[in-house]
Amino acid sequence: MQDEKSNSTPAERHARLKAEIGRHNLLYYQKAAPEITDLEFDALLRELQELEAEHPELVTADSPTQQVGGAPSGKFAAVAHTVPMLSIDNTYNEGELRAFDQRVRKGLEGAAPEYFVELKLDGVSISLRYEEGELVRAATRGDGKTGDDVTENVKTIQALPKRLQGAPAWMEVRGEVYMTFPVLERLNREREEEGLEPYRNPRNTAAGTLKLLDSREVARRGLEIALYDIVESSEPLAADHAGIMERLRGFGLPVNPHGKLCADMDAVLAMCGEWRARRFDLDYATDGMVVKVNRLRQREILGATTKAPRWIIAYKFPAETVRTRLLSISVQVGKSGALTPVAEMEPVLLAGSVVKRATLHNFEDLAAKDLRPGDLVEVQKAGEVIPQVLRHIPEERPANAVPFAVPAHCPDCGSTAHRDPEGVYLRCLNLSCPAQIKGRLEHFASRKAMDIDGLGPALVEQLVERGLVRDPSDLFRLEKGQILGLERMGEKSAENLLAALAAAKNRPLSRLLFGLGIRHVGSRTAEILAERHNTLEALAAAPLESLTELRDIGDIVAAGVREFFDVEENHALLKRLEDAGLRLWERGEDEVPDAGPKPFAGMTFVVTGTLDRATRDEVHERIKRLGGHPATSVSKKTTYLVAGSDAGSKLEKARTLGVAVLDEAGFEALAARAGEGGA
Ligand code: IVH
Repeated sequence: MQDEKSNSTPAERHARLKAEIGRHNLLYYQKAAPEITDLEFDALLRELQELEAEHPELVTADSPTQQVGGAPSGKFAAVAHTVPMLSIDNTYNEGELRAFDQRVRKGLEGAAPEYFVELKLDGVSISLRYEEGELVRAATRGDGKTGDDVTENVKTIQALPKRLQGAPAWMEVRGEVYMTFPVLERLNREREEEGLEPYRNPRNTAAGTLKLLDSREVARRGLEIALYDIVESSEPLAADHAGIMERLRGFGLPVNPHGKLCADMDAVLAMCGEWRARRFDLDYATDGMVVKVNRLRQREILGATTKAPRWIIAYKFPAETVRTRLLSISVQVGKSGALTPVAEMEPVLLAGSVVKRATLHNFEDLAAKDLRPGDLVEVQKAGEVIPQVLRHIPEERPANAVPFAVPAHCPDCGSTAHRDPEGVYLRCLNLSCPAQIKGRLEHFASRKAMDIDGLGPALVEQLVERGLVRDPSDLFRLEKGQILGLERMGEKSAENLLAALAAAKNRPLSRLLFGLGIRHVGSRTAEILAERHNTLEALAAAPLESLTELRDIGDIVAAGVREFFDVEENHALLKRLEDAGLRLWERGEDEVPDAGPKPFAGMTFVVTGTLDRATRDEVHERIKRLGGHPATSVSKKTTYLVAGSDAGSKLEKARTLGVAVLDEAGFEALAARAGEGGA
């Protein structure tokens, strides 16, 4: 960054920062896979703010500085909080906690308060309203005044009673929705199988989950909740926090069991010290302790600033860091060719688990940190399950440590590494790169894709190394003799593999789409695309605008889909898959292709223009049912062009090439004559 600051104009720096922040926002919010820590993100944002302060002419409406981070998302109904959801001031050491205690005593004119101390659960705050004992609304914090109505999603939390016994006429309770580590690990195992980046921390994952539009998916993920306050109720329920916790428990609401009343600040400090180490025994994340004045009357006297109440403070645990030796830096090649540097380290215990590898994200990051094999490095886990290499210790650098050279070539196939125009990545563009081929095949065979039993990394490795398989279509041409020649392959396992491959031919389109590894298309997105378009032909022909009309499909996914279908080689691959006997449609997983007459066999149709009587997909379906082949572009091989109104260049081309043209009525008549009444 330093060089850039001095060499580039403010406008260039502004544009670059905006793009960089935009990219990290996308990674954080849409992909739930941030590459940088919150602190690093804040630093970027601060740099942008400073730059804009110096150059106000650069501020535009789309600048990230003009957007409020936690504003309600717009996807859910807005809920106005009757009692604002304030935040809490933070402290980081004993001195700051004692200073808080002093302020409180002063505010209470010398009276010594008792404190109630709880774990600070690292999740998402939530406000719940119960009326006549029934859960009627759940809202996120949003900007503190207005949040999102996420009632349906919160109702899927198993531990939360939707109906309470003995509750007052109405009350508003608050707490934290969070995700346990075992649940996060399960989700990450699934993501790994899908070839997706793992979620980095339970908090972001819980937040993302709560804002999903699909409540079934929310239920499947398994969120937890703990309540820690009653902010309003139709009748007084307690005089102090200990009493509030008692009442919550009495209503059957889940509360965290580790809260404790402390007689004074010494007791508070002892408890904070105890939990700093004990927190790693828990199966959920805590990032500190919350210290609350116990008596409600004293809270009233202390009041609040606009930001936070004066009777409460958070004590944040220091991030766990540890030093270890960087043994080497390896370079991984992903299935889409991205080259990623990875730190290989002397194994070390950090925040409850052994760490020996950590991604270094990209070569720019690596260069900025100037990490060299042999360095003593500082590794941190800060609210994240994934460790970060923070820095090297300059005084400890071995005399012979040499800087890491950015690879000019792919470590696997040796072809030139290219800088990604969109960002900071290096990429191997060789689609025949064995590492990429293996990555793509593993993904194709994975459980959520084509689910080819027995085809794991070891087998893929052998098939590729022996030149038996280059792309997924080759799998379906494997013969028993070839398989028997592989290591650890007996008669029985070869037969099993062939049976698994045969079964995979009947997987629905959504699985194939996912298995193809189209950029940004996860398994759920693949389902949405396949449900809507039903045939591969229809999807391949869908223009960008019609793709983004679908719920949950944004510009980025749509562009990924179009990009894939705009590549000639991909069409060739799909053709080979079709020839190998794979079904390329969605509906009716068990149904076999209809065995009726095939009068259109050998004919190719292109459908264009605006149709009145049926959708383009329906016409494509009909053509296929009659044995014809719907294609997207007109060539000499086209048998008929079916032209609706406003048919443009395709009609012209058909005329030039002498291809027969039918209007809609003409097509219907042809289909009817061919022995089929109607769609
Ligand atoms: S009491 C005025 N108690 O921490 C806010 N908050 O950093 C009163 N949090 O927004 C909140 N554990 O989401 C409270 N035991 C606990 C908590 C807790 C986690 C969260 C809460 C709050 C955030 C502030």
